Amino acid sequence: MNKKYLAITGGSRGIGFSVAKKFIQNNAKQNLILISKNHEHLSSAKKKLQEINPNVDIITIATDLSSHSFVKDLNILKELSTNSNSQINGLIFSHGKSFSKILLSSSEQAIAENIDLNLTANMLLTKYFLKNFFLRPNLISKPSDEKDEFKTHQNTEKTDGISIINISSVIAIKGNMGQSIYAAGKAGLIGFTKSLAREIGGRNIRVNCVLPGFIDTDMTRDIPIELKAKFIDDMIIKRFGDPEEIADACYFLHNNKYITGQALTIDGGLSV
Ligand SMILES: NC(=O)c1ccc[n+]([C@@H]2O[C@H](COP(=O)([O-])OP(=O)(O)OC[C@H]3O[C@@H](n4cnc5c(N)ncnc54)[C@H](OP(=O)(O)O)[C@@H]3O)[C@@H](O)[C@H]2O)c1
Repeated sequence: MNKKYLAITGGSRGIGFSVAKKFIQNNAKQNLILISKNHEHLSSAKKKLQEINPNVDIITIATDLSSHSFVKDLNILKELSTNSNSQINGLIFSHGKSFSKILLSSSEQAIAENIDLNLTANMLLTKYFLKNFFLRPNLISKPSDEKDEFKTHQNTEKTDGISIINISSVIAIKGNMGQSIYAAGKAGLIGFTKSLAREIGGRNIRVNCVLPGFIDTDMTRDIPIELKAKFIDDMIIKRFGDPEEIADACYFLHNNKYITGQALTIDGGLSV
């Protein structure tokens, strides 16, 4: 029997943790790979998730996704990649760090670190999983012309396939004072999502992204109360979102087999 794993970056806290919870609550057979930076946060998340479903297998990987060398820490998954009874059925990239400083005051190093974490890591992670899991021979259908890796071909199959979801941000399309660098990384994810959806769609892999508005997690906890009130005033639905509301959307995008290349905004109407 095939053991299915969903890999979630940022799965230790906030939106990523809510995504992990949603999937194991709704599918008793879903196993998880959680990738985040901090060991203790990962252990605590694993414990909480196993209290919900004691049978779920959870592999945790603590690594700094802002460093280009993080890929070597994924070697722990080598056994999984060679085990024909295991399969990764999706990736949800929910790691990230906000960066609030105007461009003029931002150092080159800070710019590079933020883009590395919020954009480059998604590309390197996707490439790693494509090469080591999704594009392995005999797992999924391949385009007929192997010579042209970008050749599009008709994918008319209604099989489960694989789903990749990038968590971007409404700031990517709306902009925000002091967040030009964060916005650039998050906007990059939208372009990456749409082009990648075309590049690998023929392999039965769907790629989408979600653009959350202000969500109640550790990331937004320190926003000064007056600023929070100003953001809320701009929203149609007058409150910050719950991480579960983003998790619901990820679950929907993962399971709907006819959506790809899309950017779904969930922001209480902030960007309208
Ligand atoms: N909250 C919002 O209002 C909001 C709005 C729009 C978009 N987003 C996006 O949604 C995603 C999740 O945000 P959140 O609100 O859930 O944030 P959060 O509660 O602060 O959680 C961030 C997650 O990212 C991980 N992470 C941070 N830096 C990392 C690094 N260098 N290497 C590996 N993992 C790292 C953290 O791991 P550790 O636990 O190990 O630190 C944690 O699991 C982010 O991409 C964020 O930009 C959030």
